[in-house]
Amino acid sequence: MNIDQLTEVAYALVEPGRGILAADESTSTIQKRFDAIGVENTQDNRRAYRELLFRTETAMRENISGVILFDETIRQSAADGTSLVKLIQDAGSIPGIKVDAGAKPLPFCPGETVTEGLDGLRERLQEYYALGARFAKWRAVIDIADGIPTWTAVKVNAHALARYAALCQECDIVPIVEPEVLMDGDHDIQRCADVTEWVLKTVYAELYEQRVILEGTVLKPNMVVPGKKCPTKASVEEVAERTIQVLERCVPVAVPGIAYLSGGQSDEEATAHLDAMNKIGGFPWHMTFSYGRALQAAPQKAWSGKSENVPAAQKAFAHRARMNGLASQGDWSADQEKAA
Ligand code: 13P
Repeated sequence: MNIDQLTEVAYALVEPGRGILAADESTSTIQKRFDAIGVENTQDNRRAYRELLFRTETAMRENISGVILFDETIRQSAADGTSLVKLIQDAGSIPGIKVDAGAKPLPFCPGETVTEGLDGLRERLQEYYALGARFAKWRAVIDIADGIPTWTAVKVNAHALARYAALCQECDIVPIVEPEVLMDGDHDIQRCADVTEWVLKTVYAELYEQRVILEGTVLKPNMVVPGKKCPTKASVEEVAERTIQVLERCVPVAVPGIAYLSGGQSDEEATAHLDAMNKIGGFPWHMTFSYGRALQAAPQKAWSGKSENVPAAQKAFAHRARMNGLASQGDWSADQEKAA
């Protein structure tokens, strides 16, 4: 294991002004995104769409530190034969790879899941490293409802995350540790804070027990928000303050950075929340984005599967990337959205 290389990559991923593009939708998840814009889910359409993102020069160079890919994409080439990995590297961004095999029903825990994918992971990581990946992602999913999460679900998911993280570091790949507490449901912000704190404390205990070196990791957490169906909404400032409070209680100073998931927040909400946290500042980590939907919803809509719409889609992607780049430094304002 090369800890200097791991640390260097981890810091590069969370460099101020830049963040991660999560473009690792599985074939079934991208189906939902393509259905929404009336695009057929073929291998060529998936390639064309991702190629347009990775060829958005300025955004990639200035605001996207790394791209999380899906297994198909890391092996794919652009229309002119250049590998998609090379497009990302040429733009000065770091290729990464989703390595989990998805959240599957957890025995004896109705409504809960455990993320699978540990079997054969060492060999897959070695192959992904050879293909150019320098970081990886594993997403654990924790749902909130009556009587859940159970300790069983929290414990097994944290254990699997740490198994994954240790295997990544052994292969010189930076693990993005993603324990996502879902924002579905009608729970209030306090319940989200309590569950997020419980999950993060458990994850860091497991990482310690499994000898993961925190300096070579990045945390990808949810923000502390009320459930989507909660009648009581929270202000941007409240989300920022509650999120920072929970993270300060749980995340060791040795962790280089935190890259949030967007989790179903609107584009502008996800940007405003990140910006508000960075405006408060004073915490020991770099805080940035690792957004999927909040970076891609606008370009997907603008593209809608038509080659003549590529410039408009790239413009929409560049805009969201720039807004989030500003938010990663606490320099965003709603006026900049309107001006664009
Ligand atoms: P969202 O930002 O759409 O939540 O996706 C991020 C991600 O990579 C989830 O695993």
